[in-house]
Amino acid sequence: MTDQLTTIVIGSDHAGLGLKNVIKQTLLAQGLAVIDVGTEGPDSCDYPDFAHKACAAVIGGDVRFGILVCGTGIGMSMVANRYADIRCALLHDTTGARLTRAHNDANMIALGARMTGEEVALDIVKVFLNTPYEGGRHARRVQKINPAEGAKS
Ligand code: RB5
Repeated sequence: MTDQLTTIVIGSDHAGLGLKNVIKQTLLAQGLAVIDVGTEGPDSCDYPDFAHKACAAVIGGDVRFGILVCGTGIGMSMVANRYADIRCALLHDTTGARLTRAHNDANMIALGARMTGEEVALDIVKVFLNTPYEGGRHARRVQKINPAEGAKS
């Protein structure tokens, strides 16, 4: 079992590979541990494969937080949010990073390497990992995110 809070899971497809590696190296340099679920090379691949692997690390309790990177972040976030225990925010700015932790208790973020520059992405990651959840009135709303049992899919 890894240390949940000091280990971050990260995954990307080919389009997100460069940004994923920049984020990974930055986290490692900060003393955090990283579980990298791939992809590892530039060959074209399918973003859901890596989103599912990263989500498994969060759902299984190995880590508290995960970062997904694809071209837009959109496909990755769509996959991740299929899981009841994942709250994945598609982010383009640090305000979103702060508020999705404080209000939504997001446990994953999705970034788009074709949308967001490296410096902004690194700022987003920093704010995401360092902002506490406020709870309180937000807890009731977070509990209402998943549809009720028996709701039509
Ligand atoms: C890959 O070309 C691209 O579709 C993918 O990285 C992502 O943007 C999907 O949402």
